[in-house]
Parts: sequence; structure tokens; C-alpha cells
Amino acid sequence: MDIKLLETELNEVVADVNVVFIKKDELEACEHAAILQKAGFKAEQDTTCFLYEKGVLVCGVDSKKSDDIRSAASAAIKALKASNFQSAKIEILSKSVLGALVEGVVLGGYEFNDYKSEQKKSTLESLFLVSSDLDFTKLEEIFASSLIIANATNFTRDIVNKAPQEINPQTLSHVASNLAKENNLECIVLQEDDLAKENMGAMLAVGRASVHGSTLIHLAYKPQNPKKVITLVGKGLTYDSGGLSLKQPTSMVTMKMDKAGACAVLGILKAVSELQLDVEVHGFIGAVENMVGGNAYKPDDVLVSRSKTTIEVRNTDAEGRLVLADVLDYAQDKVHADYIFDFATLTGACMIALGQYTTGLMGHSHKLKHDISRAGSDAGEMISSLPFNRHLKKLLKSEIADISNTASKPYGGAITAGLFLDKFIREENKNKWMHFDIAGTAYTETPWDCNVYGGTGAGVRLMCEFLRDIK
Ligand code: BES
Ligand code: ZN
Ligand code: ZN
Repeated sequence: MDIKLLETELNEVVADVNVVFIKKDELEACEHAAILQKAGFKAEQDTTCFLYEKGVLVCGVDSKKSDDIRSAASAAIKALKASNFQSAKIEILSKSVLGALVEGVVLGGYEFNDYKSEQKKSTLESLFLVSSDLDFTKLEEIFASSLIIANATNFTRDIVNKAPQEINPQTLSHVASNLAKENNLECIVLQEDDLAKENMGAMLAVGRASVHGSTLIHLAYKPQNPKKVITLVGKGLTYDSGGLSLKQPTSMVTMKMDKAGACAVLGILKAVSELQLDVEVHGFIGAVENMVGGNAYKPDDVLVSRSKTTIEVRNTDAEGRLVLADVLDYAQDKVHADYIFDFATLTGACMIALGQYTTGLMGHSHKLKHDISRAGSDAGEMISSLPFNRHLKKLLKSEIADISNTASKPYGGAITAGLFLDKFIREENKNKWMHFDIAGTAYTETPWDCNVYGGTGAGVRLMCEFLRDIK
């Protein structure tokens, strides 16, 4: 489907369907009031009423603000794709909602059909976004950048959704190097012998029972005279079986999504390079498969990480933090960044704390938390801070090593995981670092907002918003 921005009067545009957004208090005065009343349409948010004969699709919204318009536009595109119409038009109500409209239709209309033998066909060919009275140059700018960000989000979703027999640490590095070629990024891939030379004892242990060699992928976007340098780190567990601390069968299903942090990093680099932002961005991905086998790492093992910190393994399912420990340490050596952000589907506990719709944000700098929260709300991604404290930190104490990979008490598991990572952040970087736990937000089996079944691309819109605003 083709989306076009048109500078003209709405009634000048020939299209099969006119999409209108309507609030409850506008129902009575609306042109189609009688028929909508007969249909029992109450203008609830995300409900639609298709007046097929009139060629009108009415979409309920609680408000005409971005978040509600994004979500309603997703509902609209699904209704349009399910119809046999070929074209539709939407009037752009204000400059501020154009981005949300674009995201709503591109993200809400996303489908992942790689493994279906019969491809679904939609007749919808064109969608026109129309305005005659707003600043059109500005609209063109917003339209172009929103499309880049929404498409990069779908790129992230595509990789997350791919099955674990297709995406393993080796093939994920191919995806990264192809992106690098297409978008002119630098790309270095470290194989297991390189990781051994780097003394990455924690990361290597996690991947030991896999038939696919672990990789560390380093991508870089380097414009001239960047305003800031940013390091992004992604957890790339292409499958998390739990290892010898094996997951329950029902918890193992969906664990292909444990690479979502890595995929978000790839999506962000794609967007940043296409937007040609004035910031240097490095992506570091730890790509590993956590499996069982005779050579698997074990609960009771003591690992020596790259930073020389020794780690007592008490649960092989707390593997993401082990991989990140080494990748964060490597990244801090390679790049002196102004900000270090890591993205990881790190803990089930984060979902219990915040629900499935909110990303957990952890770190030391209140200012940075504030700036990121703002970017999140501007981008329409929900984020909430989970505060560190010294009492929870003590729970990671090990009797035989420098730190344990799990806390001695189960409560506050998202925070203790964050505190484990903190142990690998150097003193001079403490206020530059933020950890994003996207365990709840990166994947969904029930559609919500502009998310459909599968990977959501969590982190991409939010980070693009933050990076675009960097002064
Ligand atoms: N990848 C999981 C976390 C996860 C769970 C992500 C559910 C998305 C959905 C992680 O590696 C893990 O297994 N964490 C354990 C930690 C525990 C053993 C301390 C968890 O959350 O149960
Ligand atoms: Zn795990
Ligand atoms: Zn995991």
C-alpha cells in the first residue's frame, strides 16, 4: 500500500473511502448521526463503523490527541484492509497528529506472513493524507521522518518475528552486515575465537551448548561533526530455553523474542542513518543461543567476565545479564560515549511490576530519566522508572564469587537485574547509562494500540525521538 501526502481540499481528492475520527460528544451533530445511531455506534476509542454505501469509515476516539489518533488509525487501517476498497483518504486535523496518523497506519497495518503458504491479499492500494491549510513544508518533513521511523520499527518486528531456526547468532550477524551495506554503516563481527581473546567468559559460557557460535556485532553510524556519541547495547538471545535451569514448556514458547533488544538496536541504526541525524551511534549486540547439552554452563559454575569480575551462576536462565555484562564492558572500552543505553528482554519480573505495556527504565541519572520519559511520551511509548536502592543491591552478594547472577530474594527482580548490570558500568559512566527492560513491551500475543501479534519494535520510536532532540 502506498501512502501519499496531498496539499489540497479534501473534497478534491477522489478516493473510495473517507476516514473520519469522531468523539462521543460529536456524534449527535455529525452528518451520519441517524445511521450511526441505528448501527449502535458509540464512538468508543478504537471502534469503527463502516458506512459502505456512503464510502465513509467512522472511527471512535476519546480525544484528537496523538496517542488516541495513532491507535484509532490502526483500527481504521485494519477495517480498510479487510474491505474490498482500493483507496482511502484522511484529513490531517493538525500538524501534531500527522506523525501519529502515519505510525498508526504503517504499524497497525503490519502483517508478518513469511511462513504462510498463502499470502493474504488486500485490495487497498492507496491512502491519501490530505491538508489544504497547514504549513505544507512542515507536513512534508514530519511525513518523511515518521515514515522512516515506522518502517524501521517494522524492520525490527520482522527480525523478532522470524523463527529461531532461521535467526541464530550467525544469521543475525548477516542481517546486521546487510543492513550495514545498505545504509552505509561500519560493521565488525566478532566470532567465538575473538570473544575468547577478549576474555568474554560470561558471554561465551551462555552460548556454549549451542551449535551456533555466539557473535558480538558492532555497527556504527558516523556522520561528520556529530553533536554527541551514543552507545546502544542489545540483548540478542536468538533463543532462550533457560539452559539447564530449563524453562517450563509454556514459558519457553515465544522465547524467540529474547533477541528483541538486539533487533531494536538494528532498527534504531536503520532509522538514524536514514534520518541522517547529527549524532554518532554505535550498536553493540551480544548474539547468543541459550541451550542445553553436555557442555552447557551450569548452576554453581563461577564465570570470569571480561572486566575480571567473577560471577557465581545460580540460575542459567538469568543469562541475558551475563551476556550484557561482557558486551557493556567491551562497548565502554571501544567507544567513549556521551550516553550508553541498553535494551533487553531481561526479566519476567518487569512485566509483573509494570504490566505488559510499559518499559522499565533503570539507571542513576534523574535528569536522563526525565529526558527519556519525555521522549517516550512524545513517541507514544510508555516507560516507567524502577528505582535502584542499596538494600536490593545486597541481594546479589555471593559467598564464593564477586557477585551472583540471581538475587537471593525474588521480589524486585527487574531492579536486581538492573543492579547486576550496574556492576559492569564504570564509575565515569554511571550517569551516562540507562537500562531499558523491554520484556513486557517487545512482544505481544494480543493486539494493543498500534501493535499487532508478535514483535512490537519497542524502543525504536522512543530512541529516535530522544536522538532527534539531542542538542
Ligand atoms: N528472557 C528472560 C526474561 C523474559 C521472560 C522475557 C518472559 C520475556 C518474557 C530472561 O532471560 C529470564 O529468563 N529471566 C528470568 C530471571 C530469573 C531466573 C532470575 C526470569 O525473569 O524469570
Ligand atoms: Zn533466561
Ligand atoms: Zn533471556
